[in-house]
Amino acid sequence: MDRFKVKDPSLASNGELQIEWASMHMPVLAQVRKRFSENKPLKGLTLGACLHVTKETGVLAETFLAGGARMALCGSNPLSTQDDVAAALAKRGVSVFAWRGQNTEEYYWCVETVLDLAPSITLDDGADLVSTLHSKRKQALSRIKGGTEETTTGVLRLRAMEKDGALKYPIIAVNDAYTKYLFDNRYGTGQSTLDGIMRATNILLAGKNFVVCGYGWCGRGIAMRAQGMGANVIVIEANPLRALEAAMNGFRVMPIAEAAVVGDIFVTATGDTSIIRGEHMKKMKDGAVMANSGHFNVEIDQNDLQEISVKKRNIRPNLDEYTLKDGRRLYLLAEGRLVNLAAAEGHPSEVMDMSFANQALCVEHIAKSQKLDAKVYEVPREIDEEVAKLKLASMKIKIDRLTKEQKKYLRIWESGTT
Ligand SMILES: NC(=O)c1ccc[n+]([C@@H]2O[C@H](COP(=O)([O-])OP(=O)(O)OC[C@H]3O[C@@H](n4cnc5c(N)ncnc54)[C@H](O)[C@@H]3O)[C@@H](O)[C@H]2O)c1
Repeated sequence: MDRFKVKDPSLASNGELQIEWASMHMPVLAQVRKRFSENKPLKGLTLGACLHVTKETGVLAETFLAGGARMALCGSNPLSTQDDVAAALAKRGVSVFAWRGQNTEEYYWCVETVLDLAPSITLDDGADLVSTLHSKRKQALSRIKGGTEETTTGVLRLRAMEKDGALKYPIIAVNDAYTKYLFDNRYGTGQSTLDGIMRATNILLAGKNFVVCGYGWCGRGIAMRAQGMGANVIVIEANPLRALEAAMNGFRVMPIAEAAVVGDIFVTATGDTSIIRGEHMKKMKDGAVMANSGHFNVEIDQNDLQEISVKKRNIRPNLDEYTLKDGRRLYLLAEGRLVNLAAAEGHPSEVMDMSFANQALCVEHIAKSQKLDAKVYEVPREIDEEVAKLKLASMKIKIDRLTKEQKKYLRIWESGTT
């Protein structure tokens, strides 16, 4: 396989440097890569991946190549590809079809071209490979041994397929590993979302009313980090347990219709659709900024925004200004796409180290498995624990071991108050 399509192959040397920098902060994946290069557990396999093409994905690709696999890769968002990394991967022999700034037609051309290269294992971030295989490429389904899914939205789509009896091959929900969502969704999205907002606007967060829509794993991280920067955080939730948790964590909780009036900066991270609609935008202050960190660009209703606006201008990269009839100006970051990937560089390497170690070990698990059913699987417990142990070791953190007596004590029911 030597085909690829990237923006500019001459960017490869810069991409190499970025991958090298990420690699320095990904010690867990380095250990997996070392073992893969010795044992070649993926020898002869072709992997098809639809992942954000970032420097960390570059390190993951190297790990798969070290394990003996061939790899075809496309981006999982039209705005998230780092063009220099794509060029470097093409140079290293990965069949990359990705560039920043694709339209929808180009995006799906890349997805389909990855499938043309006949992968037997898929890796998805948002389930676009899986859904294309199950709709337009059904004849290729019998060749697929299994797949992995990186994000909450993808897992939701796959569970819906499983429930409808539509899912035709096994998928491991990497997102649902502890060593993924507890760190990547929370600390990764928390830090990188703020990074994206700051790079796009360079406005001060301290003292601003910062509205976080969705208090899930991503929302918790965004709220925590925005509070740390001195913002007054307001949380929007539909789930009573999460709303209560946000309130007990010291945040104001209110419906979006109320927050719309007072918010300065709005960030959506629900995985749901049309959270901020025209009716809310009409109430916003002049200068309000809206960004999305959920998987798809549907959380901020852009049709509504277009409809209520009389003028649109691009102010600087990733910052569009919409002027309403009464002269108020609203600002949308990164066209409503994942702000942390489109306006910044995505999650820091240290958290992707764990997410992608899970990916690598789950792909190995699928490659070794004799027969898995066509359903959504949890990440095997031993893989999750292995990733945690390797990460702790890389951080030079030692932990206690249960004594024999403690193990026994935790299994018995007879002893109580003494
Ligand atoms: N930006 C990134 O790099 C990144 C990283 C990981 C996940 N994600 C994506 O972010 C989204 C959220 O992921 P998560 O892991 O936090 O999911 P989650 O399920 O833990 O949290 C989502 C929260 O949104 C709430 N919600 C849903 N609809 C709502 C509505 N109409 N109004 C108010 N609240 C609502 C839910 O009750 C839930 O608490 C997903 O699309 C996921 O794929 C993005």
